[in-house]
Amino acid sequence: MGFLAGKKAVVTGIASDRSIAYGIANALAEQGASLILTYQGDKLADRVGKIGAQLGAEAVLPLDVARDEDIDTLFDSVAEYWSQIDILVHAIGFAPREALAGGYLDSISRDASNVAHDISAYSFAALAKSARPMLSDNASLITMTYLGSERAMPGYNIMGPAKASLEANMRFIAADLGPSGVRVNAISAGPIKTLAASGIEGFRDLLTRAADMAPLQRNVTQAEIGNTAAFLGSDLASGITGEVLYVDAGYNMVGAAHTANE
Ligand SMILES: NC(=O)c1ccc[n+]([C@@H]2O[C@H](COP(=O)([O-])OP(=O)(O)OC[C@H]3O[C@@H](n4cnc5c(N)ncnc54)[C@H](O)[C@@H]3O)[C@@H](O)[C@H]2O)c1
Repeated sequence: MGFLAGKKAVVTGIASDRSIAYGIANALAEQGASLILTYQGDKLADRVGKIGAQLGAEAVLPLDVARDEDIDTLFDSVAEYWSQIDILVHAIGFAPREALAGGYLDSISRDASNVAHDISAYSFAALAKSARPMLSDNASLITMTYLGSERAMPGYNIMGPAKASLEANMRFIAADLGPSGVRVNAISAGPIKTLAASGIEGFRDLLTRAADMAPLQRNVTQAEIGNTAAFLGSDLASGITGEVLYVDAGYNMVGAAHTANE
């Protein structure tokens, strides 16, 4: 029996079997959690539906976080299956493609900034607020962030400030929900080739540099992020809230000039 047996998990953010959320849903299912998945828009309904069937999900529901009505109705739909939620995974990020190329000031616009913050950061608070009445006493909320929140990574541009906002949101939500026993954390993943990542100019170089510089001398896998989410979602992590947990082969803590050969 897995260490998540009996837990009920809502996982957002699956667009394909390369999505980080796919790795997370897979790891949660392996540890015995029941799943409800969400998909963004009709175009993804079929693909995520098939993934849901493969992972044994109890339901696959629509969620576009740009739409308040989707956020409001998601948990009414979840309530048709479950009375409580133990794990909520927010693995959603977006910025207009033109904002993820070139220099920061060249690429920035009010629209790009609004969209990036709305979809990538505010949506976590909006989902937490809407899920709140259904959260179990020891529920765990998990979001996905990146080192661009604290360092000016080339090409990441407006997603950097949006991830900084997401991490601040995570801490405020953790402070709000802590008294009721609910934990809220972020996983800061090293670069992984996914649909969202392929929109970032120079992403391939980012992958190479991260693997060269990381103490483990490689990039991380979806499965490693998934296993970390399974841990954070479980009672094994009962003392951890308000944290950013790095799963990046150690890249975040090495000095810029360090390489394995020096
Ligand atoms: N891939 C990486 O290198 C990396 C590293 C660190 C953090 N992350 C973060 O992980 C999360 C998942 O991204 P991924 O890399 O798996 O890419 P992905 O493209 O597979 O997933 C991004 C998801 O966001 C969803 N999404 C975008 N706009 C949405 C909206 N309006 N409503 C609902 N869903 C919406 C997409 O449908 C998709 O499922 C993102 O927050 C991303 O920033 C990714």
